[in-house]
Amino acid sequence: MRIHVLGAGAGGGFPQWNCHCRYCAGLRAGAIAARPRTQSSITVSADGERWVLINASPDIRAQIEAFPPLRPGRAVRDTGIAAVLLVDSQIDHATGLLTLREGPRLALYTTAPVQQDLSIGFPVIPMLSHYCGVDWHPIVADGSVFGVSEAPGLSFQAYALSSKAPPYSPHRHDPHPGDNIGLFITDTATGGRLFYAPGLGAFEPHLHEPMSQADVLMVDGTAWRDEDLIDQGAGSKRALEMGHLPQSGPGGMIERLAAFPRARKILIHINNTNPILDDHSRERAILDAAGITVAEDGLDLVL
Ligand code: MLT
Ligand code: MN
Ligand code: ZN
Repeated sequence: MRIHVLGAGAGGGFPQWNCHCRYCAGLRAGAIAARPRTQSSITVSADGERWVLINASPDIRAQIEAFPPLRPGRAVRDTGIAAVLLVDSQIDHATGLLTLREGPRLALYTTAPVQQDLSIGFPVIPMLSHYCGVDWHPIVADGSVFGVSEAPGLSFQAYALSSKAPPYSPHRHDPHPGDNIGLFITDTATGGRLFYAPGLGAFEPHLHEPMSQADVLMVDGTAWRDEDLIDQGAGSKRALEMGHLPQSGPGGMIERLAAFPRARKILIHINNTNPILDDHSRERAILDAAGITVAEDGLDLVL
């Protein structure tokens, strides 16, 4: 299985258009050792030709241009994106669907609550019926195995993550299993296994098994501290409130990941207020010592 990180940033990307925090301003000025990151998306393929796009970010156009396999050019109008799978209905993961309107009929894999959000609160699916049209394939977030027939050679399992539906969801204040999922993806030929959860708010018992089987854990890198946004004067929202487990502190991501010694550990969906974006930060040194990598756009893995 080939895994390609199209965007390693969280919502807003890095730098964020209106942000002048230490990291966004430092990046623009060349004053910190950091590289830009587009918004959260990866793509996976068993054969290198048929790709499953996992999350469709607002930056999708630039992401496709940066990764030639997604534009193979076998005809005047052509794409390597065989299907799209979404882990939630957040703006940073769903807005790119609108860009795909110019392509062929879209095979879209989501849970039922996400399909509902994208039909009512943020009605991308009904909108696309006037353009490419959407074939929706329901995902059940109970760990059962499913395939994406448009991209053979991979098997998928989805696990419900306790998180929050977005502000525009009809059930924002009434969480449903499947509002947010983690994915366990296996290459059926090589046996390579990826666990991908850019919105991991808590280490729940049902995640232990898939996480201990994974070769690569690609998990939530949004925040260093629960108070990153407050620390940077960039807002009042806390990471945990948004369904993201911070890296530092007791019970944080670093401590929790230590329970999985075999896996390669990669943080993804990194918010622009997170000090780990600075390669020379104290926080990055702590991650290095713990054997945890910070994803960058263009990171490419073969499992
Ligand atoms: C999240 O992951 O919490 C959201 O994408 C935040 C946002 O709206 O950017
Ligand atoms: Mn997000
Ligand atoms: Zn910023």
